[in-house]
Amino acid sequence: MVAGTGQSGNLVILSGAGISADSGVPTFRAADGLWEGHRVEDVATPEAFVRNPELVRAFYDARRAHLGTVEPNAAHLALAELERRWDGDFLLVTQNVDDLHERAGSQRLIHMHGELNSGWCLACDTRSPWAGAMGQGAACPSCAATGTVRPDIVWFGEMPYEMERLDEAVRNCDLFVSIGTSGAVYPAAGFVQTARYVGAHCVELNLEPSQGSIFFQETRIGRASEIVPAWVEEVLA
Ligand code: APR
Repeated sequence: MVAGTGQSGNLVILSGAGISADSGVPTFRAADGLWEGHRVEDVATPEAFVRNPELVRAFYDARRAHLGTVEPNAAHLALAELERRWDGDFLLVTQNVDDLHERAGSQRLIHMHGELNSGWCLACDTRSPWAGAMGQGAACPSCAATGTVRPDIVWFGEMPYEMERLDEAVRNCDLFVSIGTSGAVYPAAGFVQTARYVGAHCVELNLEPSQGSIFFQETRIGRASEIVPAWVEEVLA
């Protein structure tokens, strides 16, 4: 493993909304972000779902439908190529609930905040692929109960998925790369501190310095669809 970069060693990449921005998926904290017109507490908490499941399902139904109109961009494609050619351990952790990484070809991928294309039945505790609208309370494909399926999204106040596996990967990484995330939401925002603690080289690729920028040895500023392919090309050169 070459110090900093190279084609081997353990690589962990964290992606956030900024990587999908160039595909036309709105970010969360931009002025035109998804929360515009919706308070977080009204659509992205377990309490909101209990209070008004129709509103919450409709919010995510609209986002799921929008996925059908967008395509992976050059940044998603470059990360899939990097995964194919990387010799060491590789893990892509995304906070995004869209499916653009997998559509670009990424395989070693964890959706730590859940997925729009998944429904979670609270009656039988089964997660099922979900393509259409949940509407007023579609039936669970597994147990047939109605009104019991929620979007399989990790809401505020809930524990992200696969935290043990993620923690282990970050603790063992040599290179940690953060792409398109504001560093505002923990625990993902804390990965860089763990990576630094274990001696990893940390690189940030973002449109602007994030809240965690001071922890990265290297920050490159620009649009993900431009700076990610350029960085991947350098790493694979
Ligand atoms: N290229 C690169 N970075 C971009 C681009 C772009 N084209 N456009 C925006 N960005 C950057 C912004 O500057 C910002 O720093 O991407 C970041 C997006 O930040 P957020 O909107 O806060 O998204 P994210 O960090 O993924 O949010 C984390 O918060 O609301 C929760 O669960 C939700 O997963 C989400 C989590």
